[in-house]
Amino acid sequence: MTATIETSAAVRRSAELEELIRLRPARFRVLTGDRPTGALHLGHYFGTLHNRVRLQRLGVELLVIIADYQVLTDRDVADRLDVHVRDLVLDYLAVGIDPQRATIFTHSAVAALNQLLLPFLSLVSVSELSRNPTVKDEIAHSRQAAVSGLMFTYPAHQAADILFCKANLVPIGQDQLPHLELTRTIARRFNDRYGALLPEPDALLSPAPLLLGTDGSKMSKSRGNAISLSATADETARLIRGAKTDSQRHISYAPEARPEVASLVLMAALCTGRDPHEVAETIGSGGAAALKRTVTDAVNDFLAPLRTRRAALAADPGYLRGILREGNERANALAETTLDEVRSAMGTRY
Ligand code: TRP
Repeated sequence: MTATIETSAAVRRSAELEELIRLRPARFRVLTGDRPTGALHLGHYFGTLHNRVRLQRLGVELLVIIADYQVLTDRDVADRLDVHVRDLVLDYLAVGIDPQRATIFTHSAVAALNQLLLPFLSLVSVSELSRNPTVKDEIAHSRQAAVSGLMFTYPAHQAADILFCKANLVPIGQDQLPHLELTRTIARRFNDRYGALLPEPDALLSPAPLLLGTDGSKMSKSRGNAISLSATADETARLIRGAKTDSQRHISYAPEARPEVASLVLMAALCTGRDPHEVAETIGSGGAAALKRTVTDAVNDFLAPLRTRRAALAADPGYLRGILREGNERANALAETTLDEVRSAMGTRY
């Protein structure tokens, strides 16, 4: 019940924010990020990546955190972190995040950001941390036998991700709302206790279209059912050919009644900028085979330029390292400034 009320308030606030962004984009500093656990896929693209690029084109400042410490919340070892971090940078640049204007950086390279976690942890109670519904859900699905301290406290760490640079806007999906609420609580309590310093950031909720994986379950890097941005045209065709559909020959767009077919129709619609009902109508009684051909062509045509850019960038690892080095330098400068102000506010400047 409360979650629903909070969500609808956040939706209303997001509409107001969209208007403000349009009028005064320079007033906004946006912080978003991902855990480096594998290549990004179409669900990420239509869920968050294209929104980041949209915001950047409107003229807001963009910071993108690659949350490498957060990988360790639900597993003992973070495998191939260097590869995953590089893949994220490649995906970001390939979709159009502009490295001249955006700051792309990693948790582990910004010591002052991580230090903020200590005062922040003093501002939240253990019961607040244990009530977080997203963390509860992640604990339920964790691969670990025991819950680590990092899993339990990562929302406070995420507050540091956002507040270290005084970001005032965080585009997120619903599952991240509890974390943003905690960030606001931490900022408010810090300001009450030590003097006004940290802005209370707003969540920007954007409608994420529901794209299912090719097996009909949630599209996920780890389930082998996701069309990654970096897949080849052949891999994409193979994955879509094997996608789950249903036994009705006539193709329609009915997300409730026919979720797998609807998701495929939606995929083609998003990639071609058409209405899903119209896409379904065009296929009509062509059946699953025609649907899959349409989806494959739509996805491959849509991703082709992105994949070309990605391949060109991948051939220049020195350039990619440079982007990350510059991003980390800038994030460090911002974090040092904020930590300095925090030291002054807390009386720990000796
Ligand atoms: N928790 C986010 C996710 O799993 C990733 C993330 C880390 C993040 N730090 C952030 C998102 C700060 C927004 C702001 O997707």
